[in-house]
Amino acid sequence: MAARVLVTGGAGYIGSFCARALTAAGYEVVVADDLSSGHPEAVDCRLVELDLRDRAGLGRLLGEGFDGVVHLAGLISVGESFEAPGRYVDVNVRGSLSLLDAMREHGVDCLVFSSTCALYAPSDEALDEDVALAPLSPYAETKLLIERAIELVRRQGLRAYCLRYFNAAGAAADASLGEAHAPETHLIPIAIERASRGQPLVVFGDDYPTPDGTCVRDYVHVLDLAEAHVRAMERLLAGAPGEALNLGTGRGASVREIAALVSRCLGRELAVELGPRRLGDQPSLVARATRASRSLDWTPRWGLEDIVASACAWHRAPRYGPGRGAA
Ligand code: UFG
Repeated sequence: MAARVLVTGGAGYIGSFCARALTAAGYEVVVADDLSSGHPEAVDCRLVELDLRDRAGLGRLLGEGFDGVVHLAGLISVGESFEAPGRYVDVNVRGSLSLLDAMREHGVDCLVFSSTCALYAPSDEALDEDVALAPLSPYAETKLLIERAIELVRRQGLRAYCLRYFNAAGAAADASLGEAHAPETHLIPIAIERASRGQPLVVFGDDYPTPDGTCVRDYVHVLDLAEAHVRAMERLLAGAPGEALNLGTGRGASVREIAALVSRCLGRELAVELGPRRLGDQPSLVARATRASRSLDWTPRWGLEDIVASACAWHRAPRYGPGRGAA
């Protein structure tokens, strides 16, 4: 019988790719999502509308019998988290504690948690998992609190990977799934949108200590991220204890480099306008992902050009989300 996996937040951007990849790998997948920002159209397995803070509802669902959980549900906007930190604690932390409690009650002891590189203290170097943790935003702080809770619950038998994503980007090769946030805050979709409308991209600061003064990020294809989740779940189900792992490519790209790539890919001019720094931004976040490569036998297959090309193709005719029908 196929192992059963619950994917929380599986109607969201990264979650929908994870649910699809797990299904393709032979798992029986159920998605739980409160649909506050996810898209039912992005889900091609059973979808249960559920807020994780609804402990009774979660108990009923997990009581159906699951072998593992991939937990991505949560709020993800760094900017919004400064305005409403309490809401981030409530949704992200309380939702995760409710999940951990329900998993314990129903004997589900395999967890893959969606964490972030934004946990790390600023550094000029590529980041491995052992650098100091010092989140700059309430959003990242909630992810750290959840990682710590997971560490404590390990003592009761939980096995877990905390996957610290660098910058997820890109879309499915056939443009059937893609990024559709409302409002969109991420650089690549914003740059594509601006270039398509002939509007300038506002660069949030160009006086950072980086080669061209703009922030450097490690963009990793969402298909590669999804594959890492499949491998992490496989290993947990085979008895691995799990650990914290960086998921990135080791290659950094600046905001200006992304603007140039998007412009080239679309064959359209993209003017760049200087704006103020954005609260909570780190100058540079680039992964040293050797631990993930060793532990999960995982290496990213897609490069930055593939990421931008797939995101551009998705943007031309998004199947769901705010841009649908606009092209
Ligand atoms: N940026 C601009 N102009 C824009 C949008 C973004 O200059 O219009 C810059 C940002 O300042 C940043 C870079 O582009 O330097 C990338 O910004 P994103 O918003 O795309 O992504 P972040 O690096 O802020 O991503 C962070 C964490 C992720 C986390 C995510 C939450 O790195 O782990 O926020 O949405 F999941």
